[in-house]
Amino acid sequence: MAKQILVTGGAGYIGSHTVVELQNAGFDVVVVDDLSNSSIEVLDNIAKITDKRPVFEQFNLADRNLTASFFKKYPNIEAIIHFAAFKAVGESVQKPLEYYRNNLVSLMNLLEEMKSNDVKHMVFSSSCTVYGQPDVLPVTEQTPRKPAESPYGNTKAICEDMMRDYCATNSSINCIALRYFNPIGAHPTALIGELPVGVPGNLVPFVTQTAAGIREVLSIFGDDYDTPDGTAIRDYINVVDLSKAHVVAIERLLNGKQKSNYEFFNIGTGNGLSVMELVQTFIKVTGVNLKYKVVGRRAGDIEKIWADTTYGCNELGWKAEKTVEETLASAWAWEKNVRGIK
Ligand code: UFG
Repeated sequence: MAKQILVTGGAGYIGSHTVVELQNAGFDVVVVDDLSNSSIEVLDNIAKITDKRPVFEQFNLADRNLTASFFKKYPNIEAIIHFAAFKAVGESVQKPLEYYRNNLVSLMNLLEEMKSNDVKHMVFSSSCTVYGQPDVLPVTEQTPRKPAESPYGNTKAICEDMMRDYCATNSSINCIALRYFNPIGAHPTALIGELPVGVPGNLVPFVTQTAAGIREVLSIFGDDYDTPDGTAIRDYINVVDLSKAHVVAIERLLNGKQKSNYEFFNIGTGNGLSVMELVQTFIKVTGVNLKYKVVGRRAGDIEKIWADTTYGCNELGWKAEKTVEETLASAWAWEKNVRGIK
């Protein structure tokens, strides 16, 4: 039987786009998702894009018995891409133990099952949040990590450490952590995209929902930062470009090209964009008269961060290709599709 790639959280935002790219590259995919922040229809839409519905199992990977049973049922798993995690920064402050339990225990269970079932490879969903507010920009992989600003951010740092330590003593296990900058946009078919439950915490879903008339006005959090226009700067990476980085990371592991059995890479564009620049680009690209107002800073936000992608691009043979214009247009096309707007 053909080897399979397990994608945990494969019905989620980045997971679903990655399942599409894996299937397009010829991989057989098994999705595990508890659907706590996604829906089963996502798998139907993946099938519409790729003509193939991934195999699906619904459970939470923090359950050790269910995770062990899964690997008994699927003995042909060759590699894992582990997205499944809670990811809302603000919620993590309110519910720290839920975040630690879910995000840490699921990784522990997977690492243990990898060893028991001779699964050698994992790509892990990390975040540039591990850098905090860096002293020098752009950030390279050598930039020191800073203490996390939230329990969510801390789970990413601890998960990285867990993989590093586990790989140090288990030479047959290989892990790559991808430190994403800010993923935005949607699939060009507008069949899959980001669909936050409730009021969006992130910028682009708030922008597209405001443009769709679901939110009255976009609040820009702070225009008194030490940046050219005073608004905060991020490195916004197209979600399809980001998904392709996962495919090349998996291929790196399957082809034995890794330099050590625990590696980590920045995944961004290398360009910083301010909140105001993003908003103006959205207005220009879509022609929508987006209502916005400047309010005070959001607690816990960093001022500016963008990636130095040289090392990751060279090692992985990957680079971000899509422009921010087409990425924002794709986010708007997705929002319109979801809301039935012509
Ligand atoms: N912003 C607004 N208005 C909004 C929402 C956001 O002005 O309604 C601003 C934020 O203040 C920030 C920028 O837009 O300056 C980006 O904010 P996001 O919430 O979209 O993204 P963050 O950079 O805060 O957080 C993201 C991910 C986290 C991850 C972090 C790493 O959501 O999961 O990047 O830096 F940890």
